[in-house]
Amino acid sequence: SAVLLLNGPNLGILGRREPEIYGTDTLSDIEEAVAEEVRVSGWDVISVQHDSEGDLVRAVHEHNDSTVGAIVNPGALMIAGWSLRDALASYSPPWVEVHLSNVWAREQFRHESVIAPLASGVVVGLGAFGYRLAARALMHLSETGTG
Ligand code: DQA
Repeated sequence: SAVLLLNGPNLGILGRREPEIYGTDTLSDIEEAVAEEVRVSGWDVISVQHDSEGDLVRAVHEHNDSTVGAIVNPGALMIAGWSLRDALASYSPPWVEVHLSNVWAREQFRHESVIAPLASGVVVGLGAFGYRLAARALMHLSETGTG
């Protein structure tokens, strides 16, 4: 089994992107952290990052049957990523939304996420550690069948 780690626009340059807001962990650090968490369940990680929404949509379709859950940081697509939202609506396994920064402590335009109403849960403001928490949540949801 595998978990889909899906990161949207501008998240490929984590580590050197506004580190005072997003921290210094790189995307590969995050991939390793998630892999470490899900290893206890024998899960692999399929990590996908794209800057364009269409590619993210295709990745959601492509991995629907091959993954047991997803961790999704949509980046700024949280604001108006309606196609990503619709793709996730048809994604059957449970998934958790993650934001590194506390979006509610920031600009007004980051205060609402179009994908959040569809998520099993949302982890916000805990930096890269939030991805670990999301991974644990997915294992819990899978074990309990409550996703
Ligand atoms: C982000 C928050 C978004 O508002 C922003 O556009 C990002 C990163 C986060 O992880 O904190 O790209 O999703």
